[in-house]
Amino acid sequence: MKQTGTTILVLLAFNLAASQITIPIHKRIPQDDNESNSFLDDQDQIAVDKLINHSLEMYSGDVQLGNSNKKFTVDFDSGSNLLWLTMFQMQLKLRGTDSKIVMIALLKMVVLCMTNIPAQVNYGGGASVKGHIARVPITIAGKGPVTESLLLVEKSVNNKGLQSDGLMGLGVYDENDPEKVSFVNKLFKQGFIPKIQFSFYFGFGQSDSELVIGGVNSNKLANHSQIYYHPIILNGQHNDSQRWRFGFKSVSFGNQSVSLSSQNTGIVDSGTTLAYIRNDVYKNWISYLKTVATLKAIPSGLDTFYSVKCGTTLPDLTFTLTDVNGVDRNYALPSSFYILNQDDTCIIGIQGNQVDSDIQFLLGDVFMRRFVSVFDYTNLQMGLSVSIADPSTAPNQTLNKRKHHHAALALGLVAIAGLIFITLRALRK
Ligand SMILES: *[C@@H]1O[C@H](CO)[C@@H](O)[C@H](O)[C@H]1NC(C)=O
Ligand SMILES: *[C@@H]1O[C@H](CO)[C@@H](O)[C@H](O)[C@H]1NC(C)=O
Ligand SMILES: *[C@@H]1O[C@H](CO)[C@@H](O)[C@H](O)[C@H]1NC(C)=O
Ligand SMILES: *[C@@H]1O[C@H](CO)[C@@H](O)[C@H](O)[C@H]1NC(C)=O
Ligand SMILES: *[C@@H]1O[C@H](CO)[C@@H](O)[C@H](O)[C@H]1NC(C)=O
Ligand SMILES: *[C@@H]1O[C@H](CO)[C@@H](O)[C@H](O)[C@H]1NC(C)=O
Repeated sequence: MKQTGTTILVLLAFNLAASQITIPIHKRIPQDDNESNSFLDDQDQIAVDKLINHSLEMYSGDVQLGNSNKKFTVDFDSGSNLLWLTMFQMQLKLRGTDSKIVMIALLKMVVLCMTNIPAQVNYGGGASVKGHIARVPITIAGKGPVTESLLLVEKSVNNKGLQSDGLMGLGVYDENDPEKVSFVNKLFKQGFIPKIQFSFYFGFGQSDSELVIGGVNSNKLANHSQIYYHPIILNGQHNDSQRWRFGFKSVSFGNQSVSLSSQNTGIVDSGTTLAYIRNDVYKNWISYLKTVATLKAIPSGLDTFYSVKCGTTLPDLTFTLTDVNGVDRNYALPSSFYILNQDDTCIIGIQGNQVDSDIQFLLGDVFMRRFVSVFDYTNLQMGLSVSIADPSTAPNQTLNKRKHHHAALALGLVAIAGLIFITLRALRK
């Protein structure tokens, strides 16, 4: 235990001394939205973490580590269970600190919290992070601290697309916690929040997006009284294999409908840029779209993206889920949400899920902009409600200085979408 800690301290000290490296860090624009009196629940206790939209590819927010008030930017991921931060980003943050005392105190704290438990997270696109688990105090939007498992990353592979210091999994359980209790559940148990739930609103603007811990912001719902809850499928395991997984009734488009069953499951995944649907359903859908519009194929690695002429309106893609009362609810995704305008190329932001997994549907940011999503621990259910997000308010992409080659752009999307299949392997000895 001591050994690991010492090694890391040495490593940190060494890297701090190393020559300066410039890494572009996303500029955050502080915004004080006046949204008091907007919650469904006890207002004063809910924590709202403002999220920053990174060109609609990813949303990041802040958590605080230790008592130092040092903020770290993370990608909040409903598709995984663990918080990780890279040492490299931590060093950059610390280097920017004017107070050496704060820096040393934080390093000491992290080192003292280190365990000898190695952990690794592998992503779909060959990306991974690897390191050891520390148990550190974490505060979010002024709530906390609670002791949370942190994977302090010593080795990070192919994570360049992630515009944050790390990632925070908001899973059903925390496998690395002695009691398997998740972060949000701990906040509740320690009296920081009124309800054991969190919810996401992803908007099109720079900083209208938010993660609400302890409730739902009704101001973000198109209809305040319309949230439907869907049961999470439980596997009886209190580890990472338990996801926020729910069953599908059908997927429909145009005059076609593909019947599904509770075996056909998916997750609402904030760690995924696009949406992924079972490959056979996807192929049917694309064939159908070809009958109503001109699709242009854009090969990208092993994948193919499709684009349409910008301004094209395509039929909705509708997911039908059965709610906790046995009533079927339709979630229709309009093309204004699933077509992504990237530098004047209008790409269909839904792909086929080619990975053989029990999770056949990954409804990422593309879906989450349309629906506010509520992850509820009390009854292990997931709520969805049409959000107020409006694609027509999105700033025009042509203002964007970046001019990507189309294929390169598509690859970028894939790289970030690669955050989807997160399988944590805690290599305990
Ligand atoms: C927010 O709203 C409250 C009451 O509606 C008002 O008193 C306060 O000045 C507002 N704050 C800002 C920053 O606009
Ligand atoms: C937010 O998304 C829009 C696309 O609608 C983009 O133009 C804008 O640059 C994004 N903001 C940030 C900070 O990336
Ligand atoms: C909002 O939802 C409720 C419940 O489904 C419904 O009765 C009501 O008509 C809806 N309101 C609007 C304005 O659509
Ligand atoms: C979860 O726990 C079960 C039973 O202990 C085990 O078989 C399974 O491999 C675990 N899954 C993960 C992802 O750790
Ligand atoms: C769907 O509509 C197309 C024309 O729009 C028609 O050719 C086709 O037969 C219809 N399919 C079904 C299953 O009704
Ligand atoms: C984007 O450009 C179109 C025309 O090119 C214009 O009608 C629209 O208002 C612009 N949107 C924004 C948010 O600037």
